[in-house]
Amino acid sequence: MLRLLVVGGGRMGSALIGGLLRSGWATPSECAAAEVRSELREEIASRFPGVLAVAAPVPADDVVLAVKPGDAEAACAQLRGGGYRRVVSIVAGVTIDQLESWLWPGARVIRTMPNTAAVVGASASAIAGGSSVTAEDLAWAESVLASIGVVVRLPERLIDSATGLSGSGPAYVFLVAEALVEAGVLVGLDREVSRVLTVQTLLGSARLLAETGEPAEALRAAVTSPGGTTAAGLRALEERAVRAAFLAAVSASAARAGELGSPGRSGIS
Ligand SMILES: NC(=O)c1ccc[n+]([C@@H]2O[C@H](COP(=O)([O-])OP(=O)(O)OC[C@H]3O[C@@H](n4cnc5c(N)ncnc54)[C@H](OP(=O)(O)O)[C@@H]3O)[C@@H](O)[C@H]2O)c1
Repeated sequence: MLRLLVVGGGRMGSALIGGLLRSGWATPSECAAAEVRSELREEIASRFPGVLAVAAPVPADDVVLAVKPGDAEAACAQLRGGGYRRVVSIVAGVTIDQLESWLWPGARVIRTMPNTAAVVGASASAIAGGSSVTAEDLAWAESVLASIGVVVRLPERLIDSATGLSGSGPAYVFLVAEALVEAGVLVGLDREVSRVLTVQTLLGSARLLAETGEPAEALRAAVTSPGGTTAAGLRALEERAVRAAFLAAVSASAARAGELGSPGRSGIS
């Protein structure tokens, strides 16, 4: 019997399979991917030798649902009667209530919000369990998501907040990176040099935050000498309300996630 069926073998589904195999959570023969596109099935079979890549769901202990929001209801219908124990959804904006109603009565559903850094095993994921889920189910879902990065548990009402922060967060950081590369060019650096310095600056700063455990404000104060260069740069950012812009960005993304997850939602695809 297969341990895990991943429905949707796109970017996130295949990142998850890669993480589960790399971390030793599962062996290739314990996993399968159900993917409608034949070219993606071929890609999965060649990237992960031994993983079964099929066009429609096959029996397994548990399921990860990794399709686009607009495909989730139909994918759930295909799972009905399959005898699966638990379903972990990484589908953005689709609520546990919706998933339970599309699956079967008493379905054990865990909703998660990972992010795109799953592809390099560095996701920040939030998870929430449905009404039929046990502590053991949550621990199991946490172990699945831990194969692609860090996991926090939240009540479902805060999943939209996590979407605004860590789900959309990589895009905010990519925008900052784009702007920094352009800024480097503006002050005379070659574009490639500017790119290398920008990427390493973001990586180094993130590592300092993660590895020292120091709060961001302490790390910032440590490199801001009175009347110095960094103080001048920070003043320019504060004058342009960068802090307020991030507050607004996270709030807007969280609000949009709430709209997508409510009945009669619009713009979902
Ligand atoms: N990418 C991210 O950074 C990120 C972060 C957090 C959460 N998520 C969520 O993760 C989910 C997957 O995203 P993704 O970027 O991996 O999408 P994706 O690359 O489009 O992968 C989904 C795949 O599932 C296939 N599919 C659709 N219905 C199916 C079915 N019934 N059975 C089997 N396969 C089916 C799709 O085929 P077709 O294209 O032909 O429909 C597509 O190849 C989305 O709900 C997204 O909101 C993504």
